[in-house]
Amino acid sequence: RRVAAADSIEQLRRIARRRTPRAVFDYTDGAAEEELTLRRAEAALRSVELRPHSFGPTPGIDTSTEILGRRATLPLVLAPTGYTRMMHHEGELAVARAAWSAGLPYTLSTMGTRSIEEVAAECPAADRWFQLYLWRDRAASEDLVDRAGRAGYRTLMLTVDTAVGGLRLRDVRNGLTIPPALTARTLFDGARHPHWWFNFLTTEPLSFASMKAWTGTTEELPNLLFDPTVTLADLAWLRSAWAGPLLIKGIQHADDARAVIDAGADGVIISNHGGRQLDRAATTIDLLPGIRAALGPAATILVDGGFRSGADLAAALTLGADAVMIGRPYLYGLMAGGEAGVRRALEIFDSGLRSTMRYLGAGTITDLTGTRA
Ligand code: FNR
Repeated sequence: RRVAAADSIEQLRRIARRRTPRAVFDYTDGAAEEELTLRRAEAALRSVELRPHSFGPTPGIDTSTEILGRRATLPLVLAPTGYTRMMHHEGELAVARAAWSAGLPYTLSTMGTRSIEEVAAECPAADRWFQLYLWRDRAASEDLVDRAGRAGYRTLMLTVDTAVGGLRLRDVRNGLTIPPALTARTLFDGARHPHWWFNFLTTEPLSFASMKAWTGTTEELPNLLFDPTVTLADLAWLRSAWAGPLLIKGIQHADDARAVIDAGADGVIISNHGGRQLDRAATTIDLLPGIRAALGPAATILVDGGFRSGADLAAALTLGADAVMIGRPYLYGLMAGGEAGVRRALEIFDSGLRSTMRYLGAGTITDLTGTRA
């Protein structure tokens, strides 16, 4: 009931913090090193000003939009997040169901804790996207791309900002391993979050979208598995291996954006991994106008990092984005209340965008994007 009454992402975040072990909450909520990038992103978004028109008819509101050729109810995509069954035992299945019922695309991560095929079987008709990290073992990448295609995933997203694993100091301090291990500390925590621990220990052990099992810290894992160097030749290979839309996630320069589009990508995601990698990364909302100017109106541009409200979505649309991706906001919902919590998080974006559009006299998403400078 508390989740249903939450009317901001911050409220869901607070409920999430109470309901999950400290190390799990911190893994989700935290970012790299001093967490400067994340804090700047949130502040920058909140400082974008919107200018309402004061005359004219009050429009009927239609928040739907086309993302890569398919209709979505909002200009919003659920970003890939790893280890989601750690946040809540229903994990990716609960998130995918909530996205499906809201009419939004959901991206399964390479580090997801449900297999590509399980998520597909749960939501056959949903707009499912798959996120790839390029593996040191190229055959492993090839196999994942192949499986995603066969299981009906529509869009492939390659993440390119993970040359080294992020240094998440909260994880280091909490001694977090994947999967969480039973230690004196976690047992102590178990007494405070019995519900979470009961569910965690009585559902099947964490396995991954892309591999059988693994144990280590959140910093070690990418270093061991993923190729630190991604080249344009890799993109050319991916382009030839994947017939559907292809997005490159982690773009921060206009010339990189241009280069990947020229290599055959359909669009880019301006992202710094939610501040979880380089903690001196530029603020994505500030990069957006320049990258839009460089790519022109046709390329698909998504942006993420720090989006917490419908007004934040409107800000990105007016500055050049086609849609926004969110990570932590839906994970707070998931930790707070499983599938219903994710649904609540999505409703908060929906109602916030609607009221912002009403203020702005914008009846449709094109009315918002049309106001681009
Ligand atoms: C992520 N992110 C991420 N990105 C990716 O490409 N593959 C992944 O496996 C993950 N895993 C992951 C786990 C967790 C817990 C978080 C919070 C994030 C980054 C994610 O896709 C997205 O870029 C950010 O989450 C966006 O910032 P916000 O919305 O969380 O502020």
